[in-house]
Amino acid sequence: MSDFSLSVGEAAARSGVPVSTLHFYESKGLIRSTRSAGNQRRYARAELRRIAIIKVAQRAGIPLAEIRAALASVPPSGPISAREWARLSKHWKRDLDERIERLTSLRDQLGDCIGCGCLSLTSCPLRNPGDVLGEQGPGARLIDPSP
Ligand code: FES
Repeated sequence: MSDFSLSVGEAAARSGVPVSTLHFYESKGLIRSTRSAGNQRRYARAELRRIAIIKVAQRAGIPLAEIRAALASVPPSGPISAREWARLSKHWKRDLDERIERLTSLRDQLGDCIGCGCLSLTSCPLRNPGDVLGEQGPGARLIDPSP
């Protein structure tokens, strides 16, 4: 029990995540707690890192299912070694790189034709004459050429 030192209030205060969200993360199997003799949730200090990564990943737009899949590659509770975190981040790196690439191209090309088929910008006839990009598939072909 010794490392389960944090109450739910303390974990919420230190992580900046509301108590209700901690309960939600726990209900989704993303974090774990134990119960004290008085049936109070107690969190290990190591859970703060897991909570922090979930929070940052969610703010980066990563779906909870992807976060859970990534966290499944490390031990479910207790301190996680740097090597285990490194393995998780390697697993996640490709997804994050693709996401960064899409966000960067959205940021950099929003003022230009994105190949969506609208043909509404002056650059459309140059970059997507007659919506020729529509033949490659749906969506904004110039910023999100996903198959
Ligand atoms: S921005 Fe939509 S087709 Fe050019």
